[in-house]
Amino acid sequence: MASITDRPGFVPPPYPYDRLDRFKPLAERLDGGLVDLSIGTPIDAPPDAVITALGSSGAERGYPPSIGSLEFRSAVRRWIDRRFGVDVPVAQIGACVGTKEFVGTLPQWLRLRRPDRDTVLYPAVSYPTYEMGAILAGCRAVPVPPTPDGSLDLAAIAPGDADRALALWVNSPSNPTGALDDLGEAAAWGRSHGVPVFSDECYVEFTWSGEGRTILEHGLDGVVAVHSLSKRSNLAGVRIGFYAGDADLVHYLQEVRKHVGLMVPGPAQAAGVAALDDDTHVGIQRERYLRRLERLAGVLRRWSGCEIALPAGGFYLWFDAGDGWEFTERLATVGGALVSPGDFYGAGGAQFVRVAVVQPDERIELVAARLGLG
Ligand SMILES: Cc1ncc(COP(=O)(O)O)c(C=O)c1O
Repeated sequence: MASITDRPGFVPPPYPYDRLDRFKPLAERLDGGLVDLSIGTPIDAPPDAVITALGSSGAERGYPPSIGSLEFRSAVRRWIDRRFGVDVPVAQIGACVGTKEFVGTLPQWLRLRRPDRDTVLYPAVSYPTYEMGAILAGCRAVPVPPTPDGSLDLAAIAPGDADRALALWVNSPSNPTGALDDLGEAAAWGRSHGVPVFSDECYVEFTWSGEGRTILEHGLDGVVAVHSLSKRSNLAGVRIGFYAGDADLVHYLQEVRKHVGLMVPGPAQAAGVAALDDDTHVGIQRERYLRRLERLAGVLRRWSGCEIALPAGGFYLWFDAGDGWEFTERLATVGGALVSPGDFYGAGGAQFVRVAVVQPDERIELVAARLGLG
């Protein structure tokens, strides 16, 4: 008799970064070992005040509020006001356990509310969790192609897909491309088609072309901005982010998320307050990333002959390497550096690679020396 576990059903695909494991021994062979430029995981220290807050909040014993403490949400409100000049009522702000869980679970909550819709629209070359969240909810994931300048080609969305859409995701600055989107256009498209727009803005503090922007500058109705402290404040290990915007959408998400037990730990919320209230460390981090982007772009350009432009935002180099997997293997073998083949971010990225500048300067210099460019 067949066991109930033999039933055909959803089989999670290999996690993209696990597919890089076979290259690790190539790099580990070299003196000094592997220099990991694949996952965008911060390595620089968060500010001391954040670490102090983590250890001294006294918030360990009781359950933390799922929607976020008033202190945390007030710090978010202050930051959005200071950074973008937009006032968002505290009631229209919610905490999330890092933004990956928010992105990965959102479609199922939206679908429960709108069972007549089944589609998630997302950038064709993008962070894989937009598509995966749709798949995990049993929804259709429909990619929106880029225009030649890398922003979303909203005119390419088929009317039938717009009618069925639960949400449109935008991501500016984009991971992996670094491109900036016209968030005003995205908000207007969502309003005119009756589709909520979710704007993932976790790299906004690292905007190199002009000022960082939020979709909230274009009004709160029908839009939700999603932010993370992982990148801004080097707190990926603490798991804290937030979403803010449309009163009705935020309220619904706050309520449904309570029932799932999605809670940011109390000490993490206290650390989030300390991090959001400080901008000095963000300025220092910005300088680090820009320096590393410039250095690595120069080194890889000279070594490979590829055209490598600096991104408009974010901390990734994204360039056409001819064949993303072949380049990744060659760089691991010769330079001992691991990068991400572009097809991790969609089939349109297959010729590209993504290089995350998340290693200290001396590790980047080690790669340069191995490539004969020290
Ligand atoms: C575009 C984008 N969104 C969301 C996330 C998730 O970040 P976290 O879960 O640490 O907040 C990442 C992480 O790399 C990302 O690149």
